This record gives sequence, C-alpha cells and structure tokens, in this order.
Amino acid sequence: MQPAYYENFDEIQKKLWSMLDDAVINRDSPFRIPVFICANQNNIDGRIVVLRKTDKENNVLQFHTDLRSPKVNILKKNNNASLVFYDKEEKIQLRVKVICEINNKNSVSEDSWKKTQHISRRCYLQMMRLVLFQSSQRQA
Ligand SMILES: Cc1cc2nc3c(=O)[nH]c(=O)nc-3n(C[C@H](O)[C@H](O)[C@H](O)COP(=O)(O)O)c2cc1C
Repeated sequence: MQPAYYENFDEIQKKLWSMLDDAVINRDSPFRIPVFICANQNNIDGRIVVLRKTDKENNVLQFHTDLRSPKVNILKKNNNASLVFYDKEEKIQLRVKVICEINNKNSVSEDSWKKTQHISRRCYLQMMRLVLFQSSQRQA
C-alpha cells in the first residue's frame, strides 16, 4: 500500500517537515547535510551544509557558516538560493527555494550560539537563517 503522502499535498508537507525536523537532531539522517546553492551572476556554486534548525510555523530553515565564507558576500548581492536534500532509503528528493537572511550579532545568532557545542564554535563566526519561500515536490 502507498503511504498517505503519495497523493495528498498536506501529507507531503507533513512528511517533509517531519524529515527536516528529524535531521536537526539525528546525525544519521541524510537530510542533515543538504547541498546549499547560491549564485552571483555567472558564479554559481553548491556546497554541503549541516541543517541546524527548522521552524515550520515561520517557514524557516537554518544553517551556520563562517563570516569569512565567500558565500556570505554572494548572498549579500543575491539572497535567492536553493537547498537540495536526498534520502536514499525514503527515495525522496526535496528541492527548496529559499530567501537567505544573514544573522550576525543579533538575537537570532546569539540564541543559536548558545545552543552550539563548544567544539563547533571554532568553525563559525556567523550564522545564516534561510527563509523558505517554496518547497518542491517529492520525486521517486
Ligand atoms: C559534512 C560537511 C558538513 C559541512 N557543513 C557546513 C556548514 O554547516 N556550513 C558551512 O558553511 N560549511 C559547511 N561545510 C563546508 C562547505 O561544504 C564548504 O566547503 C565551505 O563552506 C566553504 O565553501 P564556501 O565558503 O565557498 O561556501 C560542510 C562540509 C561537509 C563535508
């Protein structure tokens, strides 16, 4: 029998958000390390990031990065970006178009900083908050 989310958009959304929520706390989740793609004119680049926070009510996904990362400058010029997730076992690809918000030295970054393990703090001087504006369909 097919899962409920095969044919029903609400169920698809529920399923995807549950996979995203799980990825934040489950180190083994394939959704934990999506590819983040951003672009400035012809300079288009993708890289793996770690999903750190989800907020379904506000359509927000969050990851951390270093202030010195080249993608910070790219996003200052063009804050439209994309996140791509794939779960091999579930056979689910999720492509999310996002508008990026850079948070640094504000309540959002302070809150995340407090929750970041000491070992990870060395990696990051800055944190980004990705505002999700469109989610994509499930693909088998
Ligand atoms: C498993 C894994 C997790 C990573 N997580 C992050 C991350 O959360 N944030 C980040 O900025 N870079 C992360 N990276 C490094 C990026 O993939 C990339 O190499 C780095 O950010 C420099 O690229 P950029 O500054 O041009 O984006 C991760 C890499 C790997 C392999």
